[in-house]
Amino acid sequence: MSDTISVKPFGRLRNGEETLLYTLSGENGAWASVTDYGASLVGFSGPSDGIPGTDIALSCESATALERDTSYIGAMIGRVAGRIGGAGYEMDGKRFNLTANTPPHHLHGGATGLGKRKWTVLQPPLPYPSICFTIISEDGDEGYPGEVRSSITYTLLPPTRLVVEIRSISSAPTPYNPTLHAYFNLDGHAAGSILHHELQIFSECCTLTDADLIPTGEIVPVDGLSCDFRHLVQIGVKMSAIPTGFDQNFLIDGADGSLRKAAIVQSAASGRRLTVWTDRPCIHLYTGHFLAVTDGKDGAAYDACAGFALETQGFPDAVNHSNFPVDILRPGDVFFSRTIFELDQDIQA
Ligand code: GAL
Repeated sequence: MSDTISVKPFGRLRNGEETLLYTLSGENGAWASVTDYGASLVGFSGPSDGIPGTDIALSCESATALERDTSYIGAMIGRVAGRIGGAGYEMDGKRFNLTANTPPHHLHGGATGLGKRKWTVLQPPLPYPSICFTIISEDGDEGYPGEVRSSITYTLLPPTRLVVEIRSISSAPTPYNPTLHAYFNLDGHAAGSILHHELQIFSECCTLTDADLIPTGEIVPVDGLSCDFRHLVQIGVKMSAIPTGFDQNFLIDGADGSLRKAAIVQSAASGRRLTVWTDRPCIHLYTGHFLAVTDGKDGAAYDACAGFALETQGFPDAVNHSNFPVDILRPGDVFFSRTIFELDQDIQA
């Protein structure tokens, strides 16, 4: 096998547009596939001795199905990941009202956020092992000010590292806090529950939310809370106290803008381990309580806890909390973030 990028049709959208699926394949048999619809991650696999490896990323068979999906499966989220309370904020004495797509709040960039649109593949294309998608979010998009130009670059490095880099500029000050909403199941995307996966998050503190999952502004130690993942522990064990699973943001220890190890997930059943590295200050754990996908890949159905998401991001709802560092992208500045998903196989758990 040699290093390649292959491309194939990935289905038609409601507006008639055709989409494409790009697969980056390494010489060792590792691969990652991404689509121009939502710049979404569709598949991810380590090497597997000449036979196709196990795909650990949850997704759908086509962009047609992804367009129907309401779980943000594999999608690039923007302009702002998570919830903005009351679907609005004040900046420089002015109120900005955003789309209240989870009334009365704003979620994951609005009704048609960046993960619900077709992106353009960069031309001329980047050489292997990278692929880059770009998109323009117009001034006033979902209520956000300024025209924002974003790109997301996926790079597959050996042995199995998927590097996700986001770059953006804006014509006016705008909140900007994107993430990649990838769900994984280390035993295979259709393997069922992730409750036996063990998780460690390198975080001493988390942010609290209210009953609507809106951050209250409080930052508290995880010590003594059910979301204490400072040591490797089975997700299911921790979840026995919380029936709806985890939907929780963590502050990454020592975050200073450099690349840091944020989390490790491993499964003794398959001997796989995923390590998440990021230069962002926070990571959001979502154990997929709302997952309800009937048209997953290979005929799979995904329901609660079929996958986990570890979304690297800035502080949630930062525009509404003066004690949170706020992600405002200003004209002249370039937003840049890098997250790496590193997959190891045959680990001795
Ligand atoms: C997560 C979010 C959840 C839910 C999910 C998508 O990032 O924290 O509350 O909205 O996305 O279904």
